Parts: sequence; C-alpha cells; structure tokens
Amino acid sequence: MKIWAHRGCCYTWPENTLQSFEAASKLPVTGIELDIQLTKDRKMVVIHDEKVDRTTNGKGWVKDFTLEEIKALKIETHPVNGEKQYTQVPTIEEVFTLLKPVCLSKGLLINIELKTSEVRYEGIEDMIVALVKEWGLDKYIVYSSFNPDSIVLIKQKYPYVNAGILYDSEKLCLEFSQKYPVNALHPYVEMLDVPDIREKTDLPIRVWNEEEIFYPGKEPCKHYDFEALEKLGVTDIFTNIADYYCSGK
Ligand code: G3P
Ligand code: CA
Repeated sequence: MKIWAHRGCCYTWPENTLQSFEAASKLPVTGIELDIQLTKDRKMVVIHDEKVDRTTNGKGWVKDFTLEEIKALKIETHPVNGEKQYTQVPTIEEVFTLLKPVCLSKGLLINIELKTSEVRYEGIEDMIVALVKEWGLDKYIVYSSFNPDSIVLIKQKYPYVNAGILYDSEKLCLEFSQKYPVNALHPYVEMLDVPDIREKTDLPIRVWNEEEIFYPGKEPCKHYDFEALEKLGVTDIFTNIADYYCSGK
C-alpha cells in the first residue's frame, strides 16, 4: 500500500500547516496531500475548509480575506514549556519551498486538491499549473478535485498533467475515467462499489476516508486493514496517520 500523508501528518500536527508537511516529508511516504483555495487578492493558500473558522482563530470565507489578513490569523499548535504556540495558513509557495528539495531528492509526490466545489475560484487551474511549471515540479504533482469541471478543464488544457478524480463512489470515479483521460481514481474508502474493479481499470485507486481523527490526536485513530483494501484493488491510501503506518507498527 502506498501511503499519502493527508493534509500532512495531521493527527500529530495541525492539518495543512508547514509543521504537518515537514513531519510528513521526513517519512518514507509516496506523497503528501493538501488543499488549495484563493484569497480575495487571488493568492493560493493551503487550507481545507472554504471558511477559516474551524482551523484558525478567525471567522469568514477564505475568499473574503487578503493574503495579509489570512496570514494574521493564528493556528494553535503544540505548546512549548507550557506556552501556547501558533502557526499560520501557508501559501502554496511556502509549501513548495519546504518540499521541493524532498521531491527532487526522494521523488516525493504532492497531491494538490483544488477546492473548487463550493467556491469556484475561476482560473485557479491555470494559476497552479503555471506555478508548478515555474517551480519545475510538474512530474511530482498529482491534481485532484471533487469538482469534475476542474479536472476536465485541467486535462483538456494541460493533457500532460497527472490528475485523479475524486468522488465518494468508486463507480462514479470509474465512469468518469471512461469518459475523460484521468490518471487515477480517488474514491471514498467506504464506497468501493465496483465488484472486480481490476477487470475494469488499471488506474491507481487511491482511497480517502472520513473516519480518522485530526490533531491534537488525543483519542486513538482508526487503523485500516491494508491487505483487505488491496484485495479490493486499492493501491494507495490518504491517511492522517502516515507517521503511524511508516513506523511499521
Ligand atoms: O483527496 C482526498 C481527501 O483529501 C478528500 O477529502 O475532505 O479531506 O479534502 P477532504
Ligand atoms: Ca483534500
């Protein structure tokens, strides 16, 4: 099973932060997954929700904050000597600065999920492909989105990019892949609803889940049975506990 650190090592560090990505970059993972959105001044920031409320001390939509404003928000992380510590919402450039050396030296992949379903962020596909090219990272990036329009657009305009389609249902992923030239299926682990999938596609099947918990990881996290998943044709998993799986326990 290939392991992808979902939003970084987001059981032991706050999700989608430089700290969670740095922890993941030190593991023998296949890749790191992250989510991008656009600020009011059209800067690409790495954050999962369309609103900042859950993960920062702010309130409101990402699209209504300038980069400077979103950078002023605090994300609480591990205390040091009993004192609270904070980090920030990273830009995608900050993440590339951190991870590019690991991509080049170890072949680390980055899955960039375009969060374009709730807010469309027109043009984000062109912006991220151009930036990836500028950074020389093309061959290390896998794009994905729950918005099929984003995947159709990115593959039509940039056929050379590697893109996976995200749906809950594996059947919907498969049907999409039969109509459009995607490079992977990204279904929900609880909706592997195509019997004998391996008779129908050779594409990688990378599962995501909603069952694992997030930082501060105080309760035990669900552990998946990789052998059982592999029997169902799964090749890769996005997991919050890449650090646990890589520890060989
Ligand atoms: O790409 C896999 C996974 O990240 C999709 O769900 O909600 O964690 O972005 P979510
Ligand atoms: Ca995601």
